[in-house]
Amino acid sequence: VTDRVRVELGPRSYEVVVGSGALDELERLFSGRRRVAIVSHAHLGAAKGDVVREPLVRAGVENQLFGMDEGEEAKSLATVERLCRDFARWGLLRSDAVVAFGGGVVGDTAGFAASVYHRGVDVVQVPTTLLAMVDSAIGGKTGVNLPEGKNLVGAFHQPRAVLIDPALLDSLPDRELRCGLGEVVKYALLGDHALTRLLEERSDALLARDPAVLREVVTRCVAAKAAVVAADEQERTGRRASLNLGHTAGHAIEQATGYALAHGEAVAVGLVFATHLASALERIPPGDVDRAERLVHGLGLPVTAPTGLRVEDLLALMARDKKSAGALTFVLPGPNGIERVDDPDRAAVDKAFAAIGVTS
Ligand SMILES: NC(=O)c1ccc[n+]([C@@H]2O[C@H](COP(=O)([O-])OP(=O)(O)OC[C@H]3O[C@@H](n4cnc5c(N)ncnc54)[C@H](O)[C@@H]3O)[C@@H](O)[C@H]2O)c1
Repeated sequence: VTDRVRVELGPRSYEVVVGSGALDELERLFSGRRRVAIVSHAHLGAAKGDVVREPLVRAGVENQLFGMDEGEEAKSLATVERLCRDFARWGLLRSDAVVAFGGGVVGDTAGFAASVYHRGVDVVQVPTTLLAMVDSAIGGKTGVNLPEGKNLVGAFHQPRAVLIDPALLDSLPDRELRCGLGEVVKYALLGDHALTRLLEERSDALLARDPAVLREVVTRCVAAKAAVVAADEQERTGRRASLNLGHTAGHAIEQATGYALAHGEAVAVGLVFATHLASALERIPPGDVDRAERLVHGLGLPVTAPTGLRVEDLLALMARDKKSAGALTFVLPGPNGIERVDDPDRAAVDKAFAAIGVTS
């Protein structure tokens, strides 16, 4: 069974296919093509690469695996250069294509390599982490880090398709699953009430990685992301900024703890902070805060920051966040939906910090 979500971008529109047969789509997509370069980590390619290779072989497409190292360090221009040189030596042409098979690190790096190799070759994203399935593989943002900062070099390069088989998550470490769950809760709080109910009622099955529940959860998140991307492909109207819900405080908490908290855990605390702040500013009723906290807690994610963090330190980190241009900027729920709120009342900010266990 597969679900299909279309990302509407005129001539660059594409489908996100979610479900157990999703990768079979590679056969149809690439039939008649000559060569496809598969980019992945060595361990993923060895353990699971056949799910990509088999449909390509059935389509009569020559394919080869190109490995890249793990982690943010490997998301670099050096890796892009190495991949492009390996593609060139293998003879990958403008009319050939790349498949990115991995989490956000592979997707961002291979996607960027595809965007510049021969001035752009087709890429298909096959995400293998929950975060990549619900977020990074969709929307065409690709790029790498510089020593000066994360994601500083990149390009918008929409994939030809995104193919998601939630069964690939069976081997994902728990910590990486939590990274994705933080983003899943975000989509629920962005206003998907059906997703909220699903997370409330089926949290045990979700945490046990039940494929049917995973498919439904991933499809709902994909639909939410696809709608935002279609409305604001290149982050110009502010609509795509709504996806930063929970991230202002989340990023600051993640950095202040020296990354002891996984990104998704920090985002979860950031989401709780954002709902408290919205309530303190009388943008939402207090009952919404309780529900959000229960949702986060029910998925095994933290609702308070680790002890020892201080308000002033977090505010300083937030002010440095590249996404806030000068003012202290939050993305908060309210009567008109998710909106940007600049420099909110300090007493409300302190109240929200106190609610997640952070004091001056
Ligand atoms: N482009 C975007 O729009 C966007 C959005 C959000 C995040 N990102 C980026 O995504 C990156 C984070 O991605 P991530 O959280 O997927 O991390 P990741 O790609 O580093 O993957 C996490 C770990 O899981 C392993 N792994 C992947 N799939 C596995 C599987 N099925 N089984 C076992 N292990 C598996 C990887 O080898 C890695 O060690 C960051 O660099 C971030 O900047 C990009």
